[in-house]
Amino acid sequence: MKTAGQRFGTVVLTGATSGIGEATAHRLAAISETLIVLGPEPEEGARRVLTQIRGAGPAEVHYVGADFTHLSDVVEAARWIRSLVSTIDLLINDAGVPGAAQRVVTMDGFERTLQVNALAPALLTRLLVPSLAEGARIVNVGSSAHRLERFHFDDIDLEHGYSPVAAYARAKLAMVTWSSLLAEELRSMPVSVVALCPGLNDTPLSAAMTGRIGGPPARGAARVLHAAVADVRSGSYLEDDHVVSPSADATDPSNRKQLTALYWDRLLRFAAAGRER
Ligand SMILES: NC(=O)c1ccc[n+]([C@@H]2O[C@H](COP(=O)([O-])OP(=O)(O)OC[C@H]3O[C@@H](n4cnc5c(N)ncnc54)[C@H](OP(=O)(O)O)[C@@H]3O)[C@@H](O)[C@H]2O)c1
Repeated sequence: MKTAGQRFGTVVLTGATSGIGEATAHRLAAISETLIVLGPEPEEGARRVLTQIRGAGPAEVHYVGADFTHLSDVVEAARWIRSLVSTIDLLINDAGVPGAAQRVVTMDGFERTLQVNALAPALLTRLLVPSLAEGARIVNVGSSAHRLERFHFDDIDLEHGYSPVAAYARAKLAMVTWSSLLAEELRSMPVSVVALCPGLNDTPLSAAMTGRIGGPPARGAARVLHAAVADVRSGSYLEDDHVVSPSADATDPSNRKQLTALYWDRLLRFAAAGRER
């Protein structure tokens, strides 16, 4: 197990173009060998952020543009990452969006908040699992907001009763639940999976949801990096840097079964396409 002062080999970080992810990238540029950062825009659009990340440390920094509202972009991103590096030591799924004011359905046919915050990171992870190094860790950025919502598998895309908060909280509930399901699935591999809430940080995402409150994104980045090295059981969920139980909905066996089925149903064809290349 690594300690906070140790260096990382190869790190893949989503959501690196803003907020907590950007602050995490700055820290990782100083303590990793190779850092692959993802954002939704093409590289030209991320140039300013990339210059700053590259200036923050000696890591070899690569950028991969992938808009998670298109699952084909996720497949392509995984292909790029696999062509750039042979193994991954740390994968951080940080990218996220607030619930849109009005319900949006992606070209893939899924409610957008669920797709970007939960389905896309699950697909990316699935496609990168074969590249994980021995001792690798997957860090999934969830939120204590997952406690605000319950699963309604008969209307997972919120066709009825949509609200931005419900969409965000439900997506984070899916993320937190999936994280521990993934840990179970990978238990025979020498890798670990940890989810966390990064606390309240003043970022574009939180500003859109609650107005400008919270600490600097660097504080959330410290929590993400704590989760990357914390000596905790695979499948753990952290709030305030401590292992806590997620909501009862996240641990309910029936919900877990239904979420697994949903992910298989929605992601299998994309995962298969990603493996074929
Ligand atoms: N801020 C908080 O208080 C708080 C609390 C609990 C949990 N979280 C979680 O922390 C994570 C980071 O959030 P943040 O507050 O740092 O928000 P943020 O500043 O808005 O950053 C979100 C990141 O996700 C990227 N992103 C947005 N849409 C995307 C898409 N369609 N495809 C791929 N990437 C996309 C953003 O790219 P662009 O900026 O380039 O669009 C950005 O890099 C999220 O998972 C969020 O749910 C945040």
